[in-house]
Amino acid sequence: MSKIILTGDRPTGRLHVGHYVGSLRRRVELQNSGEFDKIFIMIADAQALTDNADNPEKIRQNVIEVALDYLSVGLDPAKSNLFIQSQISELTELSFFYMNLVTVSRLQRNPTVKAEIQMRNFEASIPVGFFTYPISQASDITAFKATTVPVGEDQLPMLEQTKEIVRKFNSVYGEVLVEPEILLPDNEACLRLPGTDGKAKMSKSLGNCIYLSDTEEDVRAKIMSMYTDPDHIKITDPGKIEGNTVFTYLDAFSKPEHFAEFLPEYNNLDELKEHYKRGGLGDVKVKKFLNNVLQDELAPIRARRAEFEKDIPEVYNILKKGSDVAREAAAETLAEVKRAMKINYFEDKALIEEQSEKYSR
Ligand code: TRP
Repeated sequence: MSKIILTGDRPTGRLHVGHYVGSLRRRVELQNSGEFDKIFIMIADAQALTDNADNPEKIRQNVIEVALDYLSVGLDPAKSNLFIQSQISELTELSFFYMNLVTVSRLQRNPTVKAEIQMRNFEASIPVGFFTYPISQASDITAFKATTVPVGEDQLPMLEQTKEIVRKFNSVYGEVLVEPEILLPDNEACLRLPGTDGKAKMSKSLGNCIYLSDTEEDVRAKIMSMYTDPDHIKITDPGKIEGNTVFTYLDAFSKPEHFAEFLPEYNNLDELKEHYKRGGLGDVKVKKFLNNVLQDELAPIRARRAEFEKDIPEVYNILKKGSDVAREAAAETLAEVKRAMKINYFEDKALIEEQSEKYSR
């Protein structure tokens, strides 16, 4: 069986370093591993509209931002199909059929949907489209017969829902759809990178994100004001690593070679942590090191973005080409689905014959 990746992001803002360690970095590795037959990376504008119905311009503006972020981290249109969800109408058709395989109570139990409803104060009036987006996400995944879905752990319930739909569909109509596997980040710190203020989630409204497109100076300023251990006041005080954002970021970003290059007094992160816990190591020194590490990772991304920004029509062209390829793949699956459901009336010769027999008697 061929190995196929499908994943994507809602275009509600520029992508940040949390997206990077949580998923983007891995995608590029997977892309370059050569192990996958097809890779589809989707800008999920239709899903973003399910809770931004009043604000379509925000989504429209951010499609290109996300595309630039994708290209800048090294997703290569020659290897990965970058496309826009709303341009693939086959996806909505699949959703319409899958809706019959899912109950309202099952959707109500989806932990991600539950949390998001609370976060958006939707309790009193949930848009139906938003409520059913796990079904639409199942269409995104199954339309491409994805075997592998690299996403953050917040997407686990979506994958569960997708697998249930696949099993249900296949048991009712025959084996057509493929059960996908989630691929989570392998590093604990990458599962959910905290905001620069130490809050669990990076979010634009909290102003605690480091964006991939931030300037070198922005990144430095954000790191220098990062949350650390509030009880670590004098340099000689012993410090805490746990919940210390600077160390969480180092867990996510630092590599052994960074020590040799930027902080040769230490061999590795464990030694640095030990010194911090003992006391005698100041926050500023650790922050400067983190700044070097992060700038090292972000500089090539920034440079690539600047190149693509010079030819925006070409970026739209990349998305158009990717969407054409995606549409073809989704159309093939949709045709199989309709055949399995026996709603392919006009190509069903046996049906037409059977009906004419019935009436010629
Ligand atoms: N729900 C994802 C997010 O919020 C975006 C998304 C839509 C997606 N469809 C998908 C991710 C299919 C993986 C697979 O970012």
